[in-house]
Amino acid sequence: MKMNGRIPEETVEDIRKATNIVDIVGEYVQLKKQGRNYFGLCPFHGENTPSFSVSSDKQIFHCFGCGKGGNVFTFLMEVEGYAFSQAVQQLAEAAGYSLPESATDKTPQQSSEAQSILEAHQWLEKLYHHLLRHSKEGKAGYQYLLERGFTEETIERFQLGYAPQSKDFVVKFLEKKGFHPQTMVKAGLLNVNDEGEYADRFRGRIIFPIHNHHGKTVAFGGRALYDHDPKYLNSPETELFHKGKLLYNFDLARAAIRRNQSAVLFEGYVDVISAYQAGVENGVGTLGTAISDVQAKLLHRYVEHVIICYDGDEAGLEATIKAARLLKRTGCQVKVARLPDGMDPDDYIQSYGAERFRQEVIEAHTPYMTFVMNYLKRDYNLQLEGDRIDYIEKVLQELADLDRGIEREHYLTEVANEFDMSLETLRQEVQELRRSKAPAKDNSRAVRHTNTKTAIHLQDKLLPAFQNAERKLIAHMLRDPHIADKVQDEIGGNFNIDQHQVIVTYLYAYYEEGNFSDTAQFVERLSDPDLKNLVVQLAMMPVLDEISDQEINDYIYTIQAEQSNKHDIQSLKAEQKKAEQQNEPIRAAEIAMEILQLKQQMKQS
Ligand code: UTP
Ligand code: MN
Repeated sequence: MKMNGRIPEETVEDIRKATNIVDIVGEYVQLKKQGRNYFGLCPFHGENTPSFSVSSDKQIFHCFGCGKGGNVFTFLMEVEGYAFSQAVQQLAEAAGYSLPESATDKTPQQSSEAQSILEAHQWLEKLYHHLLRHSKEGKAGYQYLLERGFTEETIERFQLGYAPQSKDFVVKFLEKKGFHPQTMVKAGLLNVNDEGEYADRFRGRIIFPIHNHHGKTVAFGGRALYDHDPKYLNSPETELFHKGKLLYNFDLARAAIRRNQSAVLFEGYVDVISAYQAGVENGVGTLGTAISDVQAKLLHRYVEHVIICYDGDEAGLEATIKAARLLKRTGCQVKVARLPDGMDPDDYIQSYGAERFRQEVIEAHTPYMTFVMNYLKRDYNLQLEGDRIDYIEKVLQELADLDRGIEREHYLTEVANEFDMSLETLRQEVQELRRSKAPAKDNSRAVRHTNTKTAIHLQDKLLPAFQNAERKLIAHMLRDPHIADKVQDEIGGNFNIDQHQVIVTYLYAYYEEGNFSDTAQFVERLSDPDLKNLVVQLAMMPVLDEISDQEINDYIYTIQAEQSNKHDIQSLKAEQKKAEQQNEPIRAAEIAMEILQLKQQMKQS
């Protein structure tokens, strides 16, 4: 909040108003409209069914699963690890505002070591790129890239570079910039031997900078320019670079992924870049490793449709089936784009050109199940009856795993036609398999589907009546200043729950300043994150737009009754104590009875 001292509050508000939270969140989460709100998978905790919602009317988000919520600034702070001023700055840039210098100096969020590793990568990316373009030695690298068909624009966009064939060029460069060599070893930029001598890690290599999802360079990949081993050398795993968690080009592809509502998955950076040049802008890549669970989940948060485009050899096929199954399990709609045997995407583009790549490879993708069925076929000789039955059994098992009934039905029909079998028999077989296979899994899924909704209703039921009355009332007060006025006149800040007291007190002040109902703006006033979350949760509570005076009065009555009961109990307790002290046990017991009855009354109301 103290940042508001530096960036004027009106500016912050202007920026917030110029931004639609649905667009910003939509860059990170795949959102679907449902009624008035948008829903998606929460980026802050792992989940398979969406309990994360965004309100366009109110410009706030809230997750019913983990309780996180807030406005667009809160969202960016949480998802990017930004300070408040950084979140404001980012949105200001997008909305075309310029902020005063002093307001934007970024408070470092990372440890100073991580900070210096990031800086070193930034410097080196520039250096390598410069050497490719302007040094004598780099010319060979540049030439090589042109010969591989990379254009000027591509080399710029991906900031390709060249690392000279030198033992200590980078050592000296980093030293001059004041970086600690030991830190640079940790960063994976230098090697050190037993004698404590430092040496360049990347030598005589084309450099592919590897960005994290926020566009920061955190590693490099290097391809040997001449035939020496290994052909590809990447940065080692570091604090900032985990190759199993990051997808190459994700930062640049994000917009295109959203536009296309699909992503294309490649095996490495060369394919990603080559495909980009061929007009496939939504491509991302792993770094020569199988796709991990984390990467699959990351993709699924942004898109439903993933097209896998791996090498057209045996290894590529095996990798494809693994990736396809993992992505399917994660919940993606998977498609497979296959290449002729022995070719990788880059080879194909070089041989047949961009247009054929787009049309005959990417757009000609096969659906997941068709691919799996073809894959399974390879193990059987379908001319033989025994093999045929084994094969069908296998296929049915795969079909049983499909979540969507339509999909199962579609392929069942296909199998029935292909092998001239009774559809009904196949259907029963799959039902049987589904029942025996994973009843637990199916149940849990069914429960999870309703979980978020029932959780909310359950919560409402479990809370005492007075607390529900307070929550509902605040929900209405957040929507309508007139209701807030009325409540203020009747009971002021006398809510029973402490947090509610604080919220309404702030809310009265907010409306007194002449503000309209604007939850996203209002939450900026509350510095306590729990309070913020609660306000957002209440604002998102499904309540009817219209509320009668009678209902408001009922809520107020419930709140007051709780107070007077509490008050009565307190004074009765004092009396009880007095009676005990004065040695009047019967009187004390009578009072105890009264207290009990009052408490029961309170529970019932
Ligand atoms: P390949 O080893 O299949 O490359 O790695 P390739 O297609 O034969 O290489 P070129 O075309 O001759 O240059 C494919 C991709 O896997 C990644 C790289 O991104 C590469 O583009 N990779 C491979 C790594 O990142 N690290 C490795 O150790 C190996
Ligand atoms: Mn290749």
